[in-house]
Amino acid sequence: MPTTHAEDRAVLSDHGLALDAGTPETWTALAADVLRGLTAEEKHLPPKWFYDAHGSALFDEICQQPEYYPTRAETALLEAQGAEIAAAFPARELVELGSGSSTKTPLLLAPLRAAGRLERYVQVDVSASAMAAAERRLTEAFPGLTVERRILDFTTQLAHLGRAPQGGRMVALLGSTIGNLEPVEVQAFLEQLRAQLGPDDTLLLGTDLVKAKADLVAAYNDAAGVTAQFNRNVLRVLNRELDADFNIHAFDHEAIWNPDLERIETRLRARGAQQARVRSLSLDVSFRDGEAIFTEISRKFRRETVAELYAAAGFELSGWFETNGVYALSLARPV
Ligand code: SAH
Ligand code: AVI
Repeated sequence: MPTTHAEDRAVLSDHGLALDAGTPETWTALAADVLRGLTAEEKHLPPKWFYDAHGSALFDEICQQPEYYPTRAETALLEAQGAEIAAAFPARELVELGSGSSTKTPLLLAPLRAAGRLERYVQVDVSASAMAAAERRLTEAFPGLTVERRILDFTTQLAHLGRAPQGGRMVALLGSTIGNLEPVEVQAFLEQLRAQLGPDDTLLLGTDLVKAKADLVAAYNDAAGVTAQFNRNVLRVLNRELDADFNIHAFDHEAIWNPDLERIETRLRARGAQQARVRSLSLDVSFRDGEAIFTEISRKFRRETVAELYAAAGFELSGWFETNGVYALSLARPV
């Protein structure tokens, strides 16, 4: 397994699920997901395993692609509305879930700082490498701000975050990462989060919106093929971590729009019948020609669906900022 700095291990070994922190817990969780997912009738792998150091770098490259509009749309919204968001909720602490390399975070930290109460920024992710770079950058950019990083799976380990300090915690989940969760996972995640939040706390959520199919499909099929590399990276992770022998070049990237479920569905489709051996699990996996591994959903939202999700988990929609039908940021408070 890959390792990280000794100093990082000390900070991160608590509940770590990061591929690039190399903990035994990570390995066990990956092994369980692979065993379950690749022996199922419809083969599937959870998207969180895309994000080793290479996968996190590929995601950042996706964000630069001309077809991938969500990052630019969210950046523009934060630039335009950050001050209003911070004024509505001048938090003492910002906790960012799935923070990745925290590229957009300064657009939230700066107005929160200006609002006068911000003391601490906590990054939460399963990718240690992405967070390490961000920590250095943000500490320099915001002198005096305490920056902490926690390796946690926000779908199952939110309780490890602990209670908020007095005076307000803003929990942000940006990038429309919530769209990568299945509906039952969304419900469970929001309920868990609700249980963690007090009356002074709030949720800031980024959601990509339902729009023309052509724009959606293009965003997940960039001409430079970066999303295809990102998708195939999950097989690289399995080859390295579980001593598997997937021929990653024999799988085609596929990302299609499912209009009924209003989501992009991403798969790796076997080109030709083939077999792979996952040596660490003593598992042989056979593929028929054209058989797929389901690797990611990217659900798209409407204002009504976001409000319904909040209501079902004990939140109330308290603010909605939208760039005309493209992307939205919303604030939700516990009721
Ligand atoms: N928020 C950033 C990064 C989005 S990419 C942005 O908007 O650009 C999604 C991030 O979520 C990745 O860094 C990935 O490692 C992290 N992630 C995915 N599933 C996760 C999970 N279950 N728990 C914690 N982090 C997760
Ligand atoms: C992080 N997440 C919201 C991205 C998305 O758009 O679903 C991940 C991604 N997958 C392919 N491209 C980007």
